[in-house]
Parts: sequence; structure tokens; C-alpha cells
Amino acid sequence: MKKTCVAAAVALSIGAGMAVDAWAQQRKPEDSIKMRKAALTVLSWNFGTLGAMVKGQIPYDQAEAVKRAEAVSLVSHLPGEGFVKGTESGGDTRALPEVWAQPDKFKANQERLESETAKLVQAAKSGDPGQLKAQFGATAKACSNCHDDFRRK
Ligand code: HEC
Repeated sequence: MKKTCVAAAVALSIGAGMAVDAWAQQRKPEDSIKMRKAALTVLSWNFGTLGAMVKGQIPYDQAEAVKRAEAVSLVSHLPGEGFVKGTESGGDTRALPEVWAQPDKFKANQERLESETAKLVQAAKSGDPGQLKAQFGATAKACSNCHDDFRRK
């Protein structure tokens, strides 16, 4: 119960940050770029462990799967506010100008990531490795779809 409240508060504060985003505008472009890349790196690190598990490179372990999926789900909300206007350049970035030219499409991709990773938590909690594998695949598609359109090769 307590945990749920904390998670809700975190989700709310992140949501509010993304809606207003006034302070993010005042940051240095290089800091926004660093933040989104760091968040995506943490996301990928935890998602990678799940990948190793569904591919049988490490043994299936439900508790570990839940821990990793929860990390992926939480972190999926974080890179978004790093894509501030004016950070197409000014740092080491592979983000394409399409991120800012097609904001609705980019946002839809972010929302897809958030909903797929929420389902990933449910799949991990189910204790069924088959479900975890299927949902890992669906989530990986959400990553590659966005990379295809919004990340430089
Ligand atoms: C909404 C679009 C979107 C989604 C969804 C998305 N990414 Fe990315 N990702 C990007 C963009 C854009 C960049 C380039 C960021 C930059 O260089 O500023 C990126 C960069 C990265 C990087 C490189 C970070 C670095 O240090 O250069 C990794 C790793 C990564 N993504 C992993 C993932 C994984 C894993 C998923 C799915 C679980 C995912 N991404 C989902 C858009 C997305």
C-alpha cells in the first residue's frame, strides 16, 4: 500500500514535470541530452537482463524478472522531459529533428513504451516465462519502432 502511494506520487510528479516543462527549458541543452541518454541507458541495462533471461542466457527467476520489469517501467517515464525544444544539437546526440517536427507521433511512441512496459510488469508477475517472453518481444518492438523514426543510425 505504502509502495503504491510512493509510486503514484512519483508518477504524478513526473507527469506534472512533463506537462509544464518550464524549468527544463532553462537548463543547458547538453544537460538535457545527457539526462535522456542516461535514462535510456538505465532502461536498456535492465531490459537487457530481461532479454538474457527470455533467451535462456541466464536462468529464469521470477523475482529478478519482476525487479527488472519494474525498473524498466519506472524509467520509461524519464527520458521524455529530456527532449526539450532546442536540444536537437548542442551536445552529443543521435536524436533526429523529427522528434520536434512530429511531436504528436513522438509522444505516441513514448506512450506506447509506457503501456508496453506496464504490461511487462504484469507478465513478469504472472510467473509464466512464456508470457514474459511474448511481452518482452512486444516491448522491444516499441523500442525499435521509435528508433527507426527518431534516432540516427
Ligand atoms: C519514444 C521514442 C523512443 C523509445 C520508445 C525508445 N527509445 Fe531509445 N532512443 C530514442 C532516441 C531519440 C534516442 C537518441 C537520444 C539522443 O542521442 O539524444 C535513443 C537512444 C537510446 C540509447 C542510446 C543512449 C545513449 O547513451 O546514446 C539506448 C541504449 C536506447 N535508446 C535504448 C532503448 C530501449 C532499450 C528502448 C525500449 C525498452 C528504447 N530505447 C525506447 C528514442 C526512443
